[in-house]
Amino acid sequence: MRIVDIQRFEGEDSFEQGLRPRSFREYVGQEKIKGNLQVFIEAAKQRREPLDHILFFGPPGLGKTTLANLIADQMGTTIKTTAAPMIEKSGDLAAILTNLQEGEILFIDEIHRLSPAIEEILYPAMEDFRLDIVVGSGPAAQTITIDLPPFTLIAATTRAGMISAPLRDRFGIHFRLQFYTPHELAQILRNAGRRLAIPIEEDAALEIAKRSRGTPRIALRLLRRVRDFAQVAGEETISLQRAKEALEALGVDEHGFDELDLRLLQLLVEAKGRPLGLATIAAALSEDEGTIEDVIEPYLLANGYIERTARGRIATPKSYELLKCSVQRGLF
Ligand SMILES: Nc1ncnc2c1ncn2[C@@H]1O[C@H](COP(=O)(O)OP(=O)(O)OP(=O)(O)O)[C@@H](O)[C@H]1O
Ligand SMILES: [Mg+2]
Repeated sequence: MRIVDIQRFEGEDSFEQGLRPRSFREYVGQEKIKGNLQVFIEAAKQRREPLDHILFFGPPGLGKTTLANLIADQMGTTIKTTAAPMIEKSGDLAAILTNLQEGEILFIDEIHRLSPAIEEILYPAMEDFRLDIVVGSGPAAQTITIDLPPFTLIAATTRAGMISAPLRDRFGIHFRLQFYTPHELAQILRNAGRRLAIPIEEDAALEIAKRSRGTPRIALRLLRRVRDFAQVAGEETISLQRAKEALEALGVDEHGFDELDLRLLQLLVEAKGRPLGLATIAAALSEDEGTIEDVIEPYLLANGYIERTARGRIATPKSYELLKCSVQRGLF
């Protein structure tokens, strides 16, 4: 399985759960978001009102679900979690909404996958805490209105562009999560090492961090593998030497790029400045368009390896440079 794969596998979830920050203090980075959130939370608490609805955008593994849970904690309330693909019928959403307690948080992951019919039901629920249900059909159809307790909807998406404007506008607070710096990731790794009772040397943490594509989930996953190497070698701390060896063995290069990243960059470099569309790239790499757009591209875009133009994607000089080096060193 590729290191950056969007889906999590067995065991990985509980590993992540165990390392999830339990307070804003343990939540490293995203300073602007944290600062704003603290103000909004404090204000809502003073007014004894639920927090406004919040929408989180950002690539997988940057800490959206973690933030939603921390907000619930800070508000002193509980959180009910679901994902848009699980809400198939209007009755599914009605059941969730009518079961909410006053002030409770409803977290809907992958909100961009909500069907238009379900979105329609969500609008009055978000605006007026009201549920309009149509009973019967044809001329005999009747609308029943049910009052809902005031609640906060927190939604997360990896696809900012795929949310309809009416839905997006109903969230009072929007946050876009940023990729983490190597130093922030190193901090997350050191904290995780402490919890796992396997100390990580400073330079080893930074080495793993640099190869984690700015993403805590990837950093923690790499740590898990590096820990295996250290353990088998009978070591009680993770050293730079061991981290490097393990990362090499895992096939993660010094930028954190794996084979698919490099194949995508090579494709664009070989196109010699001719923009390539998403469908073309997906077909050439035999990958799903969603994976390319959500998982592979955001980091390459944010770090200036590729550019997105109106006509498609192109490689930047940084990519040409990288691939030249990779070819020379026989990595590719
Ligand atoms: N700022 C942070 N500080 C410390 N650990 C973090 C931070 N952000 C994320 N993590 C860790 O990374 C893991 C992944 O984060 P999380 O599940 O919140 O990501 P996500 O944005 O919801 O991803 P997805 O889009 O795939 O649902 C968490 O379990 C947590 O341990
Ligand atoms: Mg999540």
